[in-house]
Amino acid sequence: MALDQRVSLVLRLLLVGLALTSVASTAPARAAEKVALSVDASTTGAKIDRNIFGQFAEHLGHGLYDGIWVGPDSTIPNTRGIRNDVVAALKALRVPIVRWPGGCFADEYHWRNGIGAQRVLTLNPNWGGVIEPNAFGTHEFMDFLGQIGSEAYVSINVGSGTAREAAEWLEYMTTKESTTLAKERAANGHPAPYEVGDLGIGNESWACGGNMTPEYYLSQLKIYSRFVRNFNPAQQDKKQMLKIAVGPGGDGPEWTEWTETIMKAYQHHEWSWDINGLSMHSYTVVRWPPSFASVRFGETEYTQILKATLAMEDLINKHSAIMDKYDPQKRVALVVDEWGAWYAPLPGTNPGFLVQQNSLRDAILAALNLNIFARHADRVRGANIAQMVNVLQAMIMTDKEKMVLTPTYYVFKMYVPFQDATFVPVAFDAGTYTKGDIKLPRVDAIAARDTTGKVWMAMTNLDPNQALEVEANLAGIAPKSATGETLTAPKVDSVNTFEAPNTVVPKPVSAKLQGSKLILKLEPKSVTVIAVEQ
Ligand code: AHR
Repeated sequence: MALDQRVSLVLRLLLVGLALTSVASTAPARAAEKVALSVDASTTGAKIDRNIFGQFAEHLGHGLYDGIWVGPDSTIPNTRGIRNDVVAALKALRVPIVRWPGGCFADEYHWRNGIGAQRVLTLNPNWGGVIEPNAFGTHEFMDFLGQIGSEAYVSINVGSGTAREAAEWLEYMTTKESTTLAKERAANGHPAPYEVGDLGIGNESWACGGNMTPEYYLSQLKIYSRFVRNFNPAQQDKKQMLKIAVGPGGDGPEWTEWTETIMKAYQHHEWSWDINGLSMHSYTVVRWPPSFASVRFGETEYTQILKATLAMEDLINKHSAIMDKYDPQKRVALVVDEWGAWYAPLPGTNPGFLVQQNSLRDAILAALNLNIFARHADRVRGANIAQMVNVLQAMIMTDKEKMVLTPTYYVFKMYVPFQDATFVPVAFDAGTYTKGDIKLPRVDAIAARDTTGKVWMAMTNLDPNQALEVEANLAGIAPKSATGETLTAPKVDSVNTFEAPNTVVPKPVSAKLQGSKLILKLEPKSVTVIAVEQ
């Protein structure tokens, strides 16, 4: 973490501590309470990598089939088989990168099944045991990325594949030379090489990816890192493909051992292998198997889930500390390439399809996690919410020709200006919101400066009952105007449905400037993003 970010964090913690002491002695008030924020735009931290707003699209349930891919003969409007409505919605999110084809699916995926005129029908044993038509393969994925303007994060099969199979896939995708594989790619409709931004070397190799020990995985990692090459001439000097190793999936001793093993080896790595990122998976679940309902829940479940999601901060701190030990220059990114809420499957759906609703609670959960990633921008340089469409904490839900945008979608849309913006420290008194024996910070906030000089602030009021009056002192900027949007809804479990798609949508918020002070009200259970122009 950069010095200014550390100072900001220490200030926050001190202020949270002070607030905890003072709130404990006062009865909770219902009228809007005041929150003082202090933004110093003259001090900046790390760049907030746009890839922390990445997405994950696995061959799972209706994540790809029906959700993205309907085929060229569908009556649902599509471009070369890819839904036009979903593409238009995703374009507005400026999705930087999409991780594909899994997940657990990746370690059983054989890429040759998904190219050419005759697709092989296989099974998807991980996710409902259904037939995998392989209609959505390499070319369809790349076409989809082209349509939404995104980059490829390809996870290769380490569990049941071979280094040769993965190396040939990369040659197929990326070489410009007239090899047999490149000619095959051209015959399949794409003479020019594709770009692959990130390469995931396995997925959860400690579990569904082959139940490997860290040492065994490390030996595989070295082989795949050595032989699976990107040949695209445009990616040799600039835009080099980043190799992401499988990393931890929690905070117990087995996970610290995993991170230790990979990072220790990295510290003394030879020229013949390298990594640029270590993945981390962390779902907000409270307990396995996921049992929290995604609909019709109350304030207690709201606070339990938000408490669980805030554990992301400690998890990142823990694994970053190990990474700092072996990589103080922070060459290796921590890539949280699976995160989000995982609830019980919606009744009546195939449990293997991981279908859940998405509520205002999820919007707040998303904002809190994005804020955590932004505060760790020096190490966390990638994250992929699970998943993009129809699966887990989705952006979009579809049912045949119908589509609805979820509350989480709107948070990602409101946060677009933070992509590649520079972190600006914010100090504030987080206060405390209490429900039963759970205490949460009442407010969370981040700020960043974009390349045009605008300062962006994102503020979340976690308290579902109490509005907050924010008075933000803005230093290092001569503010001329402030505009923004807020996302809230009548209840913590409010959702958007096909019938009522606009229950949880952002609305303009009024923010006043008084000299260098920004004054606005944060509605209970809301996420607000403000642009301050000078
Ligand atoms: O996102 C669903 C699954 O969760 C992924 O396939 C796997 O990597 C993780 O366990």
